[in-house]
Amino acid sequence: MIEKTYTMIKPDGVANKHIGQIISRFENAGLTIERMELSKVTKKQAVANYAEHKGKPFYDKLIAYVTSGPVVKMVVSGEGAVSKVRQLMGATNPKEAAPGTIRGDFGLVMDENVIHGSDSKESAKREISIFFGK
Ligand code: RTP
Ligand code: MG
Repeated sequence: MIEKTYTMIKPDGVANKHIGQIISRFENAGLTIERMELSKVTKKQAVANYAEHKGKPFYDKLIAYVTSGPVVKMVVSGEGAVSKVRQLMGATNPKEAAPGTIRGDFGLVMDENVIHGSDSKESAKREISIFFGK
């Protein structure tokens, strides 16, 4: 089924000039870029996006990091887009992410792992409205 997901190239991915290669991977996988914006994540957006992690040991660092510089915010659509993007991203920890995945190829450390992607259709709907409005 055609569905939409939210994905975001994080500050390290933008700073290290991986935008073009990441978008190419999405398009080569048959996904469609529906919306795209290069801008900073506001504190409010970061807190809403990562609400599930509030109180965890890495939470404060995560919020500081994701708001530290420009990101590329995207709505991507396609057949099984949510899981397709997660597969292209690879494991959360770049050290464990398979070669050929975005995090495996471009990531160095857990705290700066290149890209975010919604983990379910429900998260996608919520995150699209956080970053692009209803
Ligand atoms: P994301 O939400 O950014 O797409 O990443 P994810 O689903 O693969 O991982 P998630 O569990 O949602 O964690 C969100 C971000 O928090 C950092 N993290 N650090 N030190 C740790 O144990 C730890 N666990 C998570 C990562 O930067 C991760 O992307
Ligand atoms: Mg997550």
